Amino acid sequence: MKTPKVTARAHTNIALVKYWGKADEELIIPQNNSLSLTLDHFYTDTTVQFDPTLTADQFTLNGQAQKTTKITKFLDIIRQMAASQLFARVESTNHVPTMAGLASSASAYAALALAGSKALGLDLNSKDLSRLARRGSGSACRSIYGGFVEWQKGDSDQTSYAVPLVENLDWDLKMIAIVVNDKQKKIASRAGMQTVVHTSPYYSAWVKRSKEDLLALKQAIAEKDFTQLGKIAEGNAMCMHALNLSATPHFNYFEAESLKAMQLVEQLRDQGLECYYTMDAGPNVKVICQGKDLKAIVDSLSQEFSNEQLLVASAGPGAEILEIKNSER
Ligand code: ADP
Ligand code: DP6
Ligand code: CO
Repeated sequence: MKTPKVTARAHTNIALVKYWGKADEELIIPQNNSLSLTLDHFYTDTTVQFDPTLTADQFTLNGQAQKTTKITKFLDIIRQMAASQLFARVESTNHVPTMAGLASSASAYAALALAGSKALGLDLNSKDLSRLARRGSGSACRSIYGGFVEWQKGDSDQTSYAVPLVENLDWDLKMIAIVVNDKQKKIASRAGMQTVVHTSPYYSAWVKRSKEDLLALKQAIAEKDFTQLGKIAEGNAMCMHALNLSATPHFNYFEAESLKAMQLVEQLRDQGLECYYTMDAGPNVKVICQGKDLKAIVDSLSQEFSNEQLLVASAGPGAEILEIKNSER
């Protein structure tokens, strides 16, 4: 018998203290805790149905058939948890550029963890959903929750999961994504961080620094200190990119337009408009600011970038089920 057809939605999250390196590559246990903000503007919708008539998993992304290797490995974990041998049809739509450093893997695997586990009748609590999503993509464990979220690294499958810090923000934070290139990056996050852990001479300094940043950022969040939050996020992101520059072989995610965007943010700051940048594994720059300054900052940025390149996000919610359709057999 076919299982119910379950659709889930999860939003992306952008880390202010980044995850950049694994301690366990198979289980996806990170080297350091990370802290992110879930965003309302970018998300993935994923529908899963397990079906006894299928002889293999099927996966479409934005309507196009995809290879199923990664998805099947992930579904195997859910199948094992539910003691099922059924294959699944997975249909996913990204409302975020795929593999462009805007965290599509985070929303993708959070949505798939929720839809897939629910379809097989598992009723996982948030902690176990976070642990499951982590196995698909580390950053996905944070997208189970809305608002500010910390991924506590732990040291085992049982102990590595995200916890919500502030689910409903009562301060008006905005993140402006400057999309300089929405094409797929050459170096996936997984490969990039692996090279760094194995070869950067600065890796241990990064682990130490990220611990300090995490503590200071949690304090800034508790005190709603925007200046501190922005400074820590910007510095932490540049440290992560310095690891890439110091790896063997060295690599980076910067494009000319990324540097232009960052310089512009610095100029705006010099002019008294408070904003900070962060960048992930891709060329797109995200600008963090307060709602009161949003219009002035977007107006300035639009002198250099088109309106289609400037996408404004606020804090977003955790993963949710959108629909459960029971099959007619
Ligand atoms: P990003 O910066 O977008 O998170 P990553 O380097 O982490 O990029 O890689 C994205 C990974 O997530 C790729 O393996 C890609 O195929 C996968 N992915 C992206 N969107 C989806 C989706 N909706 N469903 C399943 N997998 C997805
Ligand atoms: C730079 O979670 O995409 O966005 O666990 O290998 O799937 P895998 O990597 P992924 O890495 C995200 C890296 C980052 C920083 C962050 O989101 O914390
Ligand atoms: Co990713």
